Amino acid sequence: EVRLRVREALGAREPAGEVKVQGWVRSVRSQKEVLFLHINDGSSLENLQVVADPSLENRDLTFGSAVEVQGKLVKSPHRMQNMELKAETIRVVGPCDTWSFPLKTKERHPLEYVRQFPHLRCRNNTLGSLLRIRSEATAAIHSFFQDNGYVHIHTPIITSNDCEGAGELFQIETSNEAREPAEKTHFFNVPAFLTVSGQLHLEVMAGAFTHVFTFGPTFRAENSQSCRHLAEFYMVEAELSFTESLEDIMQDRLEKTLKNKFVIISYNEAVEILKQASQTFTFKPEWGCDLQTEHEKYLVKHCGEVPVFVINYPYDLKPFYMRDNEDGPQHTVAAVDLLVPGIGELCGGSLREERLPFLESRLQRLGLTDAYQWYLDLRKFGSVPHGGFGMGFERYLQYILGVENIKDVIPFPRFSHSCLL
Ligand code: 4AD
Ligand code: MG
Repeated sequence: EVRLRVREALGAREPAGEVKVQGWVRSVRSQKEVLFLHINDGSSLENLQVVADPSLENRDLTFGSAVEVQGKLVKSPHRMQNMELKAETIRVVGPCDTWSFPLKTKERHPLEYVRQFPHLRCRNNTLGSLLRIRSEATAAIHSFFQDNGYVHIHTPIITSNDCEGAGELFQIETSNEAREPAEKTHFFNVPAFLTVSGQLHLEVMAGAFTHVFTFGPTFRAENSQSCRHLAEFYMVEAELSFTESLEDIMQDRLEKTLKNKFVIISYNEAVEILKQASQTFTFKPEWGCDLQTEHEKYLVKHCGEVPVFVINYPYDLKPFYMRDNEDGPQHTVAAVDLLVPGIGELCGGSLREERLPFLESRLQRLGLTDAYQWYLDLRKFGSVPHGGFGMGFERYLQYILGVENIKDVIPFPRFSHSCLL
């Protein structure tokens, strides 16, 4: 007896006896002469049709129940499908309480509705497909970097630094500390946080491996109820040593495969473009202000609904690690954001400040010199020009799949006021 996944059964070239297929029932249609079932085990978008004698009907054989069907794989008489399973026995492995099951038969449920059931929504076709694509995209990203000579680094989840300095850290404490904060010292002796970015650890590794990447969960206590923010999201980050210009980060090999070059504009140009349309914005654009989502979307539209790199942002807007452009009164750093249609910011990156005196004085002004001794060390022991970027993986999926809400491209979304399961 051969056990087949639904995908294998559907794709079989030849009829076969003595097979067993397991899955969940997607529909039951009982006729006088014959019982039809559609089953799926998540290996395929298409269901496998099971044809059975009505005597095999059983009151537990309902939509949503888990079954094991044993029988013969035969050519289907229907033009639309290749193979079907002629059942000899059907065993209900786990019945489904259809009365209380929230994802009823065949109904096309809106994504907002199935979002209420994070433990069940993966059985919905749309969600199921999105999650399978997510899995494929994860593998493709890993292969891309590995194939291009990047070393994968597991950067830590728990860290004692705040890479972005944006005050969006989740602090970690043990339950002991929470109960007796006064008497206890920190578990790690120092305050520890969930990471907001693996960048600083990647910079360490780029100092040995030249090209490195990481692809892991990052955490931000952003109190933002939006369709593009999560408190826990995955970030693809790359760091490249011996990189002297933003072009190297923007183009690299990534762009060679694309038909059209992305547009590149400076922050200064972006602000000029936005000012021309000042009246359309809630938040009035000014030199020195951070670009709001409404601004980002406008810029993308202005450039013809294509991805747009915005480079050289104001010094005072950006984190301490970005490289000083030393460019006069409108002081900027070598930062780059990639804005894409429908989403806004997809990637953020920069050249890093590799010059010891510049970095030292910036950290001193921020009172961070002690905390970042190790980071300064990297500028003392064989410092090289380097840079990198981070791409929000969920925003990437939203972009390529046209998904409105970021909560629908991650299996278990975490956001402010919600941590289900
Ligand atoms: O622009 P960010 O904050 O850049 C960094 O963290 C750099 N240290 C990365 C680097 O250079 N290695 O974040 C990078 C990207 C954003 O462009 C956005 O796509 C995504 O991460 N992102 C979020 N995605 C979902 N929910 C959130 N709360 C996000 N915050 C950032
Ligand atoms: Mg950013």
